[in-house]
Amino acid sequence: MNDRAIPKEAHAMAPPETDGERTVMLACHDLTRIYREGPQDVTVLDGLSLEVHAGERVAVVGSSGSGKTTLLNLLGGLDRPSRGDVRIAGETLLDLGSAELGSFRNRHIGFVYQFHHLLAEFTAVENAALPLIVRGLRKKAAESRALELLDKVGMAARADHKPGELSGGERQRVAIARALVTDPSLVLMDEPTGNLDQATAASILAMMDELARTTACAFVVVTHDTALAAHQDRVLKLDGGRLTEQCQGS
Ligand SMILES: Nc1ncnc2c1ncn2[C@@H]1O[C@H](COP(=O)(O)OP(=O)(O)OP(=O)(O)O)[C@@H](O)[C@H]1O
Ligand SMILES: [Mg+2]
Repeated sequence: MNDRAIPKEAHAMAPPETDGERTVMLACHDLTRIYREGPQDVTVLDGLSLEVHAGERVAVVGSSGSGKTTLLNLLGGLDRPSRGDVRIAGETLLDLGSAELGSFRNRHIGFVYQFHHLLAEFTAVENAALPLIVRGLRKKAAESRALELLDKVGMAARADHKPGELSGGERQRVAIARALVTDPSLVLMDEPTGNLDQATAASILAMMDELARTTACAFVVVTHDTALAAHQDRVLKLDGGRLTEQCQGS
């Protein structure tokens, strides 16, 4: 996928940050998320920091309820932190109004939700093409690009099926195609292989390898899948509201 066919709109944005030679694609610091539930505050993320470079792949592991989805939602601009900030490609998400944030997310972020969130009334190809339609591409061009992605995830033959006619793993693959269709700078994935058999999961891994190698795309992947985690450049464990580096293989 080195033919980055979809032009990114010109955007008045801070120049990408660099850390020595490497471009910092994602940086957050002091990230805190407190859910206020009646009289009780629940601190899920507690002063967390993270930096991910262009082309880097990071796995986030942690027990159920440790805050992995909460973290991804903050990184993807779907939720706002109680404290701290998130910068993606040099842009501080908190500085963006809601329309700007929507446009920024469309241009820079691919998100694979834990429960995929496909639109029930739309076919697989229409779902996968949606981010490009939102971006203003014509339906034919958007669907043609979406079909290429569906083909890569082994779903081209089911392109005209609606989510209700697809298995959990098939829906997950359509969601992965939708996340990648815009050639994002950063892909956030919440349990992307949770419903996939080993062979299909391996083909998704190969796609991620190709993207990381041929583009500057960075990945943050939440997973319980040890093979998927071990395949990333770094594995971080979320515990007590913070991330700690895991030795590969532990
Ligand atoms: N909107 C909310 N309001 C209140 N509490 C919430 C909310 N969303 C999540 N939580 C709580 O925050 C904690 C972390 O939830 P989160 O969904 O981030 O966990 P997770 O690590 O993704 O778990 P899993 O592996 O089961 O998907 C949980 O205790 C959850 O109950
Ligand atoms: Mg979760």
